[in-house]
Amino acid sequence: MSSDHPIVLRGVAKHFPLHWRRGRVIAVEHLDLEVRRGEVFGLLGPNGSGKSTTLKMILGLTPPSSGEIELFGEPPARPETRRRLGFLPESPYFYRFLTGAETLRFFGRLCGVPRARLEARVEELIALVGLGHGRDRPLATYSKGMLQRIGLAQALVHDPELVLLDEPTAGVDPMGSRDIKDLILRLKSEGKTVVLSSHLLDQVEEVCDRVAILHLGRKIVEGPLGELLSPGDRATLEVEGYDERRADAIRAALASAGAGLRSVGRPRLTLEEIFVREVRRAGGDRP
Ligand SMILES: Nc1ncnc2c1ncn2[C@@H]1O[C@H](COP(=O)(O)OP(=O)(O)O)[C@@H](O)[C@H]1O
Ligand SMILES: [Mg+2]
Repeated sequence: MSSDHPIVLRGVAKHFPLHWRRGRVIAVEHLDLEVRRGEVFGLLGPNGSGKSTTLKMILGLTPPSSGEIELFGEPPARPETRRRLGFLPESPYFYRFLTGAETLRFFGRLCGVPRARLEARVEELIALVGLGHGRDRPLATYSKGMLQRIGLAQALVHDPELVLLDEPTAGVDPMGSRDIKDLILRLKSEGKTVVLSSHLLDQVEEVCDRVAILHLGRKIVEGPLGELLSPGDRATLEVEGYDERRADAIRAALASAGAGLRSVGRPRLTLEEIFVREVRRAGGDRP
């Protein structure tokens, strides 16, 4: 079933046996997925819906109980294919006493970044994820947001064409989450393919091209985000000079055009937009 898509899953299931023959946990069931080159794909769903298990199977870290997985047209566990991808685990474990720069140097060597290139790459990544202030501090002193940034930098150290991010914005403050989303969009603009998981549906809404929503290990929704969020037969009209007393007249005008009025609301900013705007206005987003 060799395919052009970087990731293909066909009928994938994953069961975990419980101890003492008490049955099994069905973590993922009947899962078909295709991730296309150059897109940002969101694997969404509440906690326990099977997102991390799916990512681990794509990475070849755990085999599916049934079904097939292709990574760049090959079985996932091959070292040559793994070298083409970067991974941010859900709770990355790092050496607490290494500094930010030392951590990236360590992962760079592990991923085969040429020695001559390594120092420049480490500096590039520190700048890319905005960790200048953590460069020479041990990770033991990092905040959750800083650990997430070093985790992202680590995933990108060998400049992979496919990046898998497990809950990249979880536990990060709004400014950090804004930066992470900008970084994801930047990776996309460089032609990379990004797969991210999140249980915070609204946090990743704006960066995903397509999403699949999992529930209890099953895919319940899939599609391009634009189509899911903006059904083609609905439109929002923003009315200037609106007056409550003329609501009936407006309703009648729409009815005469063959359209029904579903709701009347006031345009609204999100708290995140206000927060980010005010932090930027106050000058600078980190100490
Ligand atoms: N190694 C494991 N052994 C037993 N059950 C597991 C294991 N890993 C995950 N599960 C179970 O599989 C389900 C899906 O987990 P997971 O993929 O981590 O979900 P998510 O990442 O969406 O929160 C959960 O019910 C979880 O308890
Ligand atoms: Mg998870």
